[in-house]
Amino acid sequence: MLLHLSDLHFGTEQSVVILALEELCLTLPLEAIAISGDLTQRARRLQFQAFFDFFNAMHVPWIVVPGNHDIPLYHLSKRMFNPFGHYESIFGATERVLETPHFHLVGVNSVSPKHHTRGRLTPPQIEQTAQRLESGSKGKHRIILSHQPFRVLRSYQVRDIPVLAKFAAQRWADSGLDAMLHGHFHVPVVMPLQQYFDLSKEVLDIQAGTGLSDRLRYDVRNSVNVIHPNMRVERYDFSMLSLKFELHSQLWPLPA
Ligand SMILES: [Fe+2]
Repeated sequence: MLLHLSDLHFGTEQSVVILALEELCLTLPLEAIAISGDLTQRARRLQFQAFFDFFNAMHVPWIVVPGNHDIPLYHLSKRMFNPFGHYESIFGATERVLETPHFHLVGVNSVSPKHHTRGRLTPPQIEQTAQRLESGSKGKHRIILSHQPFRVLRSYQVRDIPVLAKFAAQRWADSGLDAMLHGHFHVPVVMPLQQYFDLSKEVLDIQAGTGLSDRLRYDVRNSVNVIHPNMRVERYDFSMLSLKFELHSQLWPLPA
């Protein structure tokens, strides 16, 4: 199974929730941990280092992509000319691939230094990602990891959907894409994309809440997603009573 985390925002992490996440990681039989961006609150080197040190100690394979919080906000020359400097010095390339027993995970960097929160994709990036999807072993779920969702719950959130999202979803569905893992809005939800984007096959848009941060929205507590080899998606919430992450609900398939 996969543990899908997002929007950890190191720098605003809560120590009691970190301990609970550590325990969850050690308890579940994880193939990998996938973190869909906003690793840090302000893209500071110490925040990236704290993030790296935490996951490096888990002894589980993990894959990350940047979110809009992972490039400098106020340092404009760094933002324009070396936006991923700290990120790359710690994690290497922003787009990596990870293969596990049941999943073929492809990271996609959807962050644009020119936009505050809106995602962007380019035609060469979409094509390279399609080829990376196609290179996955047969029988494995093909999954993309990127920050901003392709489908949203609220009308004002549409502005943050990446440029070229529909074109990318159509190309990637043709390459066998099964699901995308996103975050950004701090609300756990799974939405099907086939009808929405007129795709050649079903693709799930799986979104995670904020795993550790105190930046909670819409009364949703800290939460993480667990994705099983049969693509069942479960939401685990942090409980203030037990101080643990506990199973909250099944996000997919939708309960009948
Ligand atoms: Fe974000």
